[in-house]
Amino acid sequence: MRVLALLWTFCLLLKEAQAWGFKNGIFHNSIWLEQAAGVYHRESRQGRYQLTYKEAKAVCKYEGGTLATYKQLEEARQIGFHVCAAGWFDRGRVGYPIVKAGPNCGFGKVGIIDYGYRLNKSEKWDVYCYNPNSKECGGVLTDQQKMIQSPGFPEEYQNEQICYWHIRVRLGQKIRLNFLEFDVEDDTACLADYLEVYDSYDDVSGFAGRFCGDYLPDDIISTGNVMTLKFLSDASITGGGFQLQYVAVNPAPKSQNQTHN
Ligand SMILES: *[C@@H]1O[C@H](CO)[C@@H](O)[C@H](O)[C@H]1NC(C)=O
Ligand SMILES: *[C@@H]1O[C@H](CO)[C@@H](O)[C@H](O)[C@H]1NC(C)=O
Repeated sequence: MRVLALLWTFCLLLKEAQAWGFKNGIFHNSIWLEQAAGVYHRESRQGRYQLTYKEAKAVCKYEGGTLATYKQLEEARQIGFHVCAAGWFDRGRVGYPIVKAGPNCGFGKVGIIDYGYRLNKSEKWDVYCYNPNSKECGGVLTDQQKMIQSPGFPEEYQNEQICYWHIRVRLGQKIRLNFLEFDVEDDTACLADYLEVYDSYDDVSGFAGRFCGDYLPDDIISTGNVMTLKFLSDASITGGGFQLQYVAVNPAPKSQNQTHN
């Protein structure tokens, strides 16, 4: 019985692993690990829970952002931002966003797990920052067709951008990506700046290609009704950016060969 129960749990975990997984010991939704609606999570370079309130503020400021407000954190949470690590946010408050209830995080609750306004600002936590400049980048797209552009397009994109676009069309449809313009810092393995395409709901499985340089990629058609695009730029050298359109493709009708007689 015990073995069966374990097997069952294992299967459930496997299923979950498609969009949710562990990274650095933190259970997260891989799509939104980095950011959602301009909100993102940071920890100290020394590791988890090492930032005083003052240091937390400095981390956000250094990256051109500010501490996230409760409202911004909640808005990000509502579109899937889930991080199992307590961090400072606006006005000395500490908490973290939970989308999916789990036994080891958030006390089985969903919402902002709120530790309240801390009187002792020397306590050490992680931090939640907000950067309005990156707000236009990424998101969950469910329209039948839409243009996707690098942040700031047609201006050059900035350094240190991370964007996730998660496309979901109707069940049974596929997604066709059609690249219109493409100019991303070129290097042989596309390790500096790149656009990655995943034929899946997340950036863990279904890798379909990584692109950089100024060669216009061919159209890409998904196998299912979801796709994920990830754009990342490093700390130096940018490019003109990219613009592409996705279109939902309806399933081909069953053999419609007409015979004329
Ligand atoms: C405030 O927090 C720091 C870090 O946890 C701790 O060392 C210090 O003793 C606390 N101060 C007070 C007054 O509790
Ligand atoms: C329909 O057309 C396809 C491709 O033109 C062909 O391979 C197939 O045999 C045709 N089917 C019928 C029933 O005519």
